[in-house]
Amino acid sequence: MDRILNRAKHIKGEINVSADKSISHRAIILSALANGDSQITNLLKAEDTDSTCRCFSQMGISIKQQGNKLAVSGKGLQGLKEPESILDCGNSGTTMRLLCGLLSGQQFFSVLAGDKSLSRRPMSRVIQPLRLMGAEITGRDNSKYAPLAIKGSKLHGTSYQPPVASAQVKTALLLAGLNAEGATIISEKTPTRDHTERMLAAMGADLVVDSKEIRLYPGRDLEPQDFLVPGDISSAAFFLVLASIVPGSELMIRNVGINPTRDGIIEALKLMGAKLNIENQRVFGGETVADIVVSSAELKAVNIEGDMIPRLIDELPVLAVAMAAAQGRSTVKNAEELRVKETDRINAIVIELEKMGVDIIEQPDGFIVTGSRDNLKATEVDSWGDHRIAMSLAVAAQVCHGETKISNSQAVSISFPEFWDLLAQITS
Ligand code: S3P
Repeated sequence: MDRILNRAKHIKGEINVSADKSISHRAIILSALANGDSQITNLLKAEDTDSTCRCFSQMGISIKQQGNKLAVSGKGLQGLKEPESILDCGNSGTTMRLLCGLLSGQQFFSVLAGDKSLSRRPMSRVIQPLRLMGAEITGRDNSKYAPLAIKGSKLHGTSYQPPVASAQVKTALLLAGLNAEGATIISEKTPTRDHTERMLAAMGADLVVDSKEIRLYPGRDLEPQDFLVPGDISSAAFFLVLASIVPGSELMIRNVGINPTRDGIIEALKLMGAKLNIENQRVFGGETVADIVVSSAELKAVNIEGDMIPRLIDELPVLAVAMAAAQGRSTVKNAEELRVKETDRINAIVIELEKMGVDIIEQPDGFIVTGSRDNLKATEVDSWGDHRIAMSLAVAAQVCHGETKISNSQAVSISFPEFWDLLAQITS
């Protein structure tokens, strides 16, 4: 679907962004494994989380909407039933990689498949360490890609340091570890989002987390919970950049999760001179949440690399837009992981922003942007079917003179179905 957007005069108002996608997936999965009924308030309702719900329904878990809550009847760590057909993970890498870990230790056969984009994403990063735990998984092209066939087996714990910084790999191993014999120990070179650890600890799992490693000991059942999902900082990021680069703007974004493993976008924008006020900080379902007030600012260039990358990996496409509107030469390095997301996001954002007249140079592990406010031009661009590219281009369109046409704009429904309505609501 094509979408036509015009330059914004300013951005004003108060919004709540969609619920956190990472926490929503985990809340569904961990509720299904708990001993009894959990409730999830403010679960993300989007295509990716629908994929996770569908997979668990196929494995015998009752999931029902009750008012604004989702009720999930957990059946315990070994209570899932063998699915009669393939489990379709759609576009969702989180669904596929997390289920890969979980299903390795369930005593049945299952097949995980996904759409064209997901079928091209690397799966050996989860298969290899899971095999060290005794998992029997095979996949297409010498077990590099989905579809994946999993023959559930008796697992044993292992000690592992993932070569790439990935919360999906970490979580897959922890989910496998819940049903393994002995401890599962994971050490991360660079910390990644820690929602799984927080949720498992709250549910009574035997988990020790210190600065060096995460140790999970099996044998304890998970207690059902009342989960409360905060707003997604990865979705808020589009509006943080938007209100920063459109002159005369002021926007309040309520209930945004600001977990320190996810708040790199706030730090990066502040380094660029953005005016962000973090207000009303509180703890909400085990996660720190705040309201963020953002007003427009003259942004300046910034260099982003190293340990900062995992803290803002999903926000890099929209950060490229901020860099395009900032004065000076910005760089992103050490972000090769961006190439194996829903699309090759380095290539996608470089090609599409170039069409808008941005001086952006592709690098193997990032990009170099020489920005200046007011140099973006309206044209026809494409989302590549990637939700975060679609929303990043929509933000860029707001500072272009004239009419921007974004094709494949429907991709936003993967993580943020109400994005277009919210954008229209605050734009004049
Ligand atoms: C996610 C982890 C990240 C992130 C993805 C969601 C998660 O992926 O990019 O959108 O929920 O664990 P990686 O684990 O591949 O870094």
